[in-house]
Amino acid sequence: MTKAKESPLKELLALAKQAAEHSYSPYSKFRVGAALRLTNGEIVTGTNVENASLGLTICAERAALVRAVAQFGPKIRIAAAAVANLNGLPSPPCGACRQMLAEFASPEARIAFPSGGGIKTMTFNQVLPAGFEFKLK
Ligand code: THU
Repeated sequence: MTKAKESPLKELLALAKQAAEHSYSPYSKFRVGAALRLTNGEIVTGTNVENASLGLTICAERAALVRAVAQFGPKIRIAAAAVANLNGLPSPPCGACRQMLAEFASPEARIAFPSGGGIKTMTFNQVLPAGFEFKLK
């Protein structure tokens, strides 16, 4: 884990790319990394881990999230997130990852990812405008 008081998205993207070096992706060969800056100042990274079953594969973003909760507990909040890959391809977070990360992020928190040959930054509200919420009345 990397300690950082305040980290711009650029640094977060660099850490995400670094995390992608550890990708276990023998099936897709798509090497993805994610970095989450938490409101407590910590940065937690993750990478995709594939499985022969294919369906059991975990994405880099969710790998980072479960790592963050395991290390810092259930009260963590995501201040910003970044996704990168080593394949030079667009990699917006998948729907499952948007839903999982949004649980721990304010709608205004930003997520940066490779898109259209550059980096796109969007808020969680923009990437997941109508996410599922579990609220019994
Ligand atoms: N993948 C991620 O790590 N994050 C995403 O948001 C989408 C897809 C991974 C899963 C799999 O290992 C590979 O990319 C191809 O789908």
